[in-house]
Amino acid sequence: MRRAILPLLLESLQFAPGVPARAPSGPRRRLIHARLRHRNLDAPPAPPMRFWESGWIDIARHDIPIGLREPLRVLHLSDLHASRVVSLGYLERVFELGLEHKPHLICLTGDFITWKYNAYDPYAAALKRLSRAAPTFACLGNHDGGPWAGSRLGYASAHPVRRLLRQAGVTLLHNRGCALQLGSQCLNLVGVGDPWNDECHPEAAFATPLEPGAPTVVLSHNPDTKTLLAPFHWSLMLSGHTHGGQWLLPGLGALLAPVRDKHRVRGLHLWRGRWVYITKGVGNLHGLRLNCRPEAALLTLS
Ligand SMILES: [Fe+2]
Repeated sequence: MRRAILPLLLESLQFAPGVPARAPSGPRRRLIHARLRHRNLDAPPAPPMRFWESGWIDIARHDIPIGLREPLRVLHLSDLHASRVVSLGYLERVFELGLEHKPHLICLTGDFITWKYNAYDPYAAALKRLSRAAPTFACLGNHDGGPWAGSRLGYASAHPVRRLLRQAGVTLLHNRGCALQLGSQCLNLVGVGDPWNDECHPEAAFATPLEPGAPTVVLSHNPDTKTLLAPFHWSLMLSGHTHGGQWLLPGLGALLAPVRDKHRVRGLHLWRGRWVYITKGVGNLHGLRLNCRPEAALLTLS
């Protein structure tokens, strides 16, 4: 067990100066494959599972003023990480829970898979439940394909995940934006690619014609991209990536959050006059969480 935890601790502490924190290259990590059964979404797990919280979903609620005339309910999900340790059954139950709150808009901020994946048809069917309920938009994460993922056990291209999203009716905003009419009001949505895969291009994203005067929400998997996005006009950035730290050790905090900005690894932050929301994510890596429950975020924008 200790031999499995140590590489993860070391990984979280390695960063390249001047660029968003990047997980190290190297041999495949030997990780814990605790095959937890995901259950009891609203109730605490049975006592032996108390700190093995991977299936104990939390609903995080926040009100965020961004200049809308009428409140807009947004379901923000991230880091689904469909894999051997995050089942489609669990993800479907989280989707159901989120949809009970009747969101007007659904935002998915990347890491749909962990490494390679082979159940795309049922995964697309599950995601389609979201897109049928409300307009659903996404950006890609570091695990969704690209040079970073390809140099490990993932895909060198995001093509499989792009196809998944297309099949599921989810609109991918990959370095582009759109002006979205929701009822009587307009919201600009802009999505950027993942910096670890060298695909974060805010200039291209913001070159898309947007609605002048309407608030702009950015979808960006890695919250460290806020510094790259700072020159552009936006009111709120939705991110994931950190898993909230995934393992929060008493007195030591979130040692496993692979970001440069260790002061902002989860929750709502006011940063340089704009909002940044970093969700703890729905899934996980390696099958366990410690003092850091997974979450579905219900954001009321106004
Ligand atoms: Fe992730």
